Amino acid sequence: MSAGAILVTGGAGFIGANFVLAWIAAEGAPVVNLDKLTYAGNLDSLARLKGDTRHRFVKGDIGDRALVASLLREHKPRAIVHFAAESHVDRSIHGPADFVQTNVMGSFALLEETRAYWSQLPSAEQDRFRFLHVSTDEVYGSLGPRDPAFTEETPYAPNSPYSASKAASDHLVRSYHHTYGLPTVTTNCSNNYGPYQFPEKLIPLMILNALQRKPLPVYGDGRNVRDWLFVSDHCEAVRVALARGRPGETYNIGGNAEKTNIDVVRAVCAILDELRPDAAPHEKLISYVQDRPGHDRRYAIDAGKMRNELGWAPRERFDSGLRRTVEWYLDNMKWVDGVASGEYRNWIDLNYGKRA
Ligand SMILES: NC(=O)c1ccc[n+]([C@@H]2O[C@H](COP(=O)([O-])OP(=O)(O)OC[C@H]3O[C@@H](n4cnc5c(N)ncnc54)[C@H](O)[C@@H]3O)[C@@H](O)[C@H]2O)c1
Repeated sequence: MSAGAILVTGGAGFIGANFVLAWIAAEGAPVVNLDKLTYAGNLDSLARLKGDTRHRFVKGDIGDRALVASLLREHKPRAIVHFAAESHVDRSIHGPADFVQTNVMGSFALLEETRAYWSQLPSAEQDRFRFLHVSTDEVYGSLGPRDPAFTEETPYAPNSPYSASKAASDHLVRSYHHTYGLPTVTTNCSNNYGPYQFPEKLIPLMILNALQRKPLPVYGDGRNVRDWLFVSDHCEAVRVALARGRPGETYNIGGNAEKTNIDVVRAVCAILDELRPDAAPHEKLISYVQDRPGHDRRYAIDAGKMRNELGWAPRERFDSGLRRTVEWYLDNMKWVDGVASGEYRNWIDLNYGKRA
């Protein structure tokens, strides 16, 4: 693969696939995409790149050190953008082991091989190299209704096995900068939504259940608050942090769009009422289910550092981004059918089985 390649991990997942598509469109530079293709990975999301020599897909595990070492040797990437993770909080409650394995041990293996590769680069290339670690706002724990938003200085207080495993990887990344000088940048982002999101997550789950006239399961009282960011805005923020972020720094990324879960679900219903009036009102499908254990009440992101230091701000408003998302799912039912396998349906039954 030609010079200037980057290595992306988890590039067949929701954000990773959006990132790879946007990267090749915006930068035109080659991408080596290492992804294990777990239930969450889907090559259909990258179908547009079929035959494009700038995209080289490699099926494999970030924890496979021999594989990672050989990819680094062969492609000599100038940066690594690390998305690969087990990413679903609910799954981490039912089975935390995979989260520790991939998010902690896998990230550790990737860091070790990156360190070995980076330490042998000529010093100018060492300076230019970046390891960009993609993380979450969930590492900061839960906010009360009037608490100020998370900043990069907010102490870590992860509450789920998912956020604890991501926090652990953030700490490892931090330590590789401080101890070995590896030029790392970490981004902590709020909830993403948009095309290609696996339908276990809130927004696509609601869209697809509503289309099938199935109940729309809302945890607890539905008043949990999340900040929402359209996925292309996240991808652009990662590109900006990669280009201009200072090594050793962390940057919070958010959409300035705090919403309660129930408001998000109602907004999805309102758009579907317009686009599929025969089945209106979709709100009648809302069904409250038993809250998940340890459910964080509120997350909010202060993205001032991204704005002031790197000049990034989200472009998409929540209402227009949500409409684009609903329309995308309606137009891409073939993609949906491809991911909604038997395994996925069993998972939905296991997780949302209990009514409130
Ligand atoms: N989705 C969000 O709202 C959100 C918000 C903030 C941060 N993040 C972070 O962004 C990253 C991507 O999230 P996402 O929503 O796209 O996740 P996702 O679950 O949709 O995709 C994860 C991808 O990683 C791959 N993968 C998993 N384990 C692997 C392993 N051991 N080796 C190689 N590949 C592996 C999967 O096959 C999948 O393609 C994660 O690190 C997540 O913590 C997500």
